[in-house]
Formats: sequence, structure tokens, C-alpha cells
Amino acid sequence: MSAWLSRNKKTPVIGVDLGSGFIKMAQFKEEQNSLKLVNFGVLSVPEGAIVEGRIEKTKETVEILKELISFHSFIGNRIVANVSGQLVVAKEIIMDVLPENELDEAVKWEIEKFLPFPMDKAAFDYQILNEIIEEGRVNKLNILVASAPLEVVELTAELFKMANLDPVAVEVEPFSILRLLRFDPEFSFENEVLFPVINIGYNYTSINMVDKGMVRFSRTIPTGGRKITDSIASALGKSFEEAEEIKIKELDLTKE
Ligand SMILES: Nc1ncnc2c1ncn2[C@@H]1O[C@H](COP(=O)(O)OP(=O)(O)O)[C@@H](O)[C@H]1O
Ligand SMILES: [Mg+2]
Repeated sequence: MSAWLSRNKKTPVIGVDLGSGFIKMAQFKEEQNSLKLVNFGVLSVPEGAIVEGRIEKTKETVEILKELISFHSFIGNRIVANVSGQLVVAKEIIMDVLPENELDEAVKWEIEKFLPFPMDKAAFDYQILNEIIEEGRVNKLNILVASAPLEVVELTAELFKMANLDPVAVEVEPFSILRLLRFDPEFSFENEVLFPVINIGYNYTSINMVDKGMVRFSRTIPTGGRKITDSIASALGKSFEEAEEIKIKELDLTKE
């Protein structure tokens, strides 16, 4: 699930955030326990090009990726991208203890129960979080499951290849957000008990419940910064651009 940090450290990867409103590219340098941003680029995506994490307008999106690469001096062409949207699942499940070869099959059965699409159309991965010990023996397993539509993952990987980029990994958004928080020196969430990490995007907002540094579950709702700007525009009788400016100036979420 965290392939991007474990593979060949000599050629740093470029992180790509395929948002519903903006594509962001960033490259970091690891310094002691922190990350230093060394390169960053952002471009807006055309209306309807990325919907629900699905790339609807491939040609236009490939052009934006190429543009971002040519404007900035990113090192190498290896990228890690995230997929997001209402069909992306990050969830904790509890399973009986089983031999490794049987566990795989059992987890598949379990995932099938809550997956919002057929199992043969899913890309998924899982990780044992911890063992639950009852009456002195391991009784159950706590398992973290990540899943996204196979089509979304495959199209995302294909998209980058078309832009002459090398996709090293595609991961689900809740895990990338959480990994980023780990690098915040002000923030120690290993001891925190159940709190939400909310990512407000352009068209979608994800709510991720985090417990002792792990995502317990995530939900995506179809609302975001665009609707806030729309509301300001209609309330004040301003254009979208004017309302966006007012929002950033007056309601800056980055301010204390
Ligand atoms: N400083 C800020 N204060 C309030 N809203 C902001 C600020 N910076 C960006 N936004 C809003 O965040 C939204 C874009 O978020 P982003 O995560 O890039 O979207 P997505 O990932 O869905 O493309 C826009 O609606 C923008 O107006
Ligand atoms: Mg976003």
C-alpha cells in the first residue's frame, strides 16, 4: 500500500494528485523526519475531464500532464498517483484467524459484501493491522482493506503512460492524506483516538475517520469548494471568479 517510499530511493517519484478541479504535481526531498517541497505545479482540469476519479476526457488530461512536466523541472518521470471518489473504499474489517492461503479467499468474500460494484471489476489490497487477543489467544484479525474500480486504476495508469510518465503505484486517497500528516512535526496522531481528517476538494469532500494513525473508514460526499464559491456568487450577485477571490481572501481556511 505504501509502495512509493519503499522503492528505489535514488530516483525520487513525482506525486500526482488527480483532483476533480485541479491536477497537482509535487516532488519532495526527505530531510531527517520531514519533507521538503522541491518542485510543485498545478493546473485546472477542463469541466468534466475527471469525474468521480474516472478520467472522462483522456486527450485533454494527457495534455495537462505534459504541460505540467514541461513547465517545471521535475526530476525523472516516475510518478505515484492517487485515485479518489465515492467508489474508492478504505475500510477496516474483522476476520477469523485463517491460514494465509485461505485468508486471501475469505477477505475477498468479505470485501464483496460492501463493495459498491462487482468484485471482478475491483482492484483491491489488504493489510493485517493487528491481532485481536481474547482469553490469551489470537482470536480475530483486524484487517485494513483498500479498493477502487479496476477500470479507474487501469485508466489512470494508462493516462500517465500516454503522457510519457512511468506510473510506479496508484493508491487510494485516504492513505496518501494520512501519510502526509505523518510528516507534520506539530502533529502526533499515534495516540489520538478516532478523529476525522476532512479533505475539501473542488467537487468532492472526503471524510476519513482516523484512529491511532490508521484510517478506519472513509466516505466521499459530492460537495466542495466549488459549491461554496457558487453560494457566495449567488448570495452577493457576483461572478464565479469574483466570488472565488472573496472566498480565498475572507474565508481563508489556512488562517488561524
Ligand atoms: N486558502 C483557501 N481558502 C479557501 N478555499 C480554498 C483555499 N485554497 C483553495 N481553496 C479551494 O479549494 C478547492 C480546490 O481544492 P483541491 O483539493 O485542489 O480540489 P480537487 O482536488 O478536487 O481538484 C477550490 O474550490 C478552491 O477555491
Ligand atoms: Mg484535492
